[in-house]
Amino acid sequence: MTARKVIIDTDPGQDDAVALLLALASPDQIDLLGITCVAGNVPLSLTQKNARMICEVASRPDVPVFAGRAAPLMRPLVTAEEVHGKTGLDGPELFEPKMPLQSQNGVDFIIETLRREPAGSVTLCPLGPLSNIAAAFQAAPDIVARVQEIVLMGGAYFEVGNVTPAAEFNIYVDPEAAEIVLKSGIQITMMPLDVTHKALTTRPRIEALRNLGNSAGTFTAEMLDFFERFDMEKYGSEGGPLHDPCVIAYLIAPDLFTGRHINVEIETQSKLTLGMTVADWWGVTDRRPNALFIGDLDAEGFFKLITERLARL
Ligand code: RIB
Ligand code: CA
Repeated sequence: MTARKVIIDTDPGQDDAVALLLALASPDQIDLLGITCVAGNVPLSLTQKNARMICEVASRPDVPVFAGRAAPLMRPLVTAEEVHGKTGLDGPELFEPKMPLQSQNGVDFIIETLRREPAGSVTLCPLGPLSNIAAAFQAAPDIVARVQEIVLMGGAYFEVGNVTPAAEFNIYVDPEAAEIVLKSGIQITMMPLDVTHKALTTRPRIEALRNLGNSAGTFTAEMLDFFERFDMEKYGSEGGPLHDPCVIAYLIAPDLFTGRHINVEIETQSKLTLGMTVADWWGVTDRRPNALFIGDLDAEGFFKLITERLARL
């Protein structure tokens, strides 16, 4: 099977970082054309630096890293330092990456790549707010039909919101961008909180990573030691939800996941429920299904995959 051409759009963030490591450790399945960074968990100046740091932790400075939008399409930026720490990667000892940030803007890289590569051959994997993706579609509508698939982390239905009672963070930060993506007509697979809250970083799972004995395993264990505390305190769970790696694991081992092809629309008007993903899980409307909404995963298989792949780094 040839490697799938992928652009990861990300706001590292510890869980983004694990998703990047999983992708970087899987060149046989993922031909990572580039990493475009967006403002989200922390400001863009940090997300682009963190992405380059993770490439160096994986000894993959060959992957180009781009900075995209520093803010949502129409709203002020909302960040999540309370979850990820001031750096966005609190936990391990951080360092100044040596690899350069590309001079081209990430949005332009997405447009140029989709125009250059054969139509239908590039998958977009957004792991943060959808500002870069939507901006690219607005600037170059011709690229929409050229996207193979979008596999994103975002939204919630049964799990409801994590940043407001109604909304998940990635959608809440830029609901207008999410609406543009969900209405694009592109084949979309969504990893909402409904599934990511079942992918918990329990102590044995973190220790398995630490016991790999390589720098990627130790770095990841130290990131997760920090990352899990917020959700464990909030939900009383036995670990933190490993959101973004669900996207990359789906590309590598889709059978780990199950979901339903349903209609998902985004609330962009109501102050009370702004950013809510209105998921028609029970098919009570005649709205056209537009996303594979993932609801469950084989959590043991998921962590086994991550551990096996990070052992390669
Ligand atoms: O709500 C979880 C999402 O928001 C994850 O992508 C996490 O990294 C943050 O961006
Ligand atoms: Ca993220």
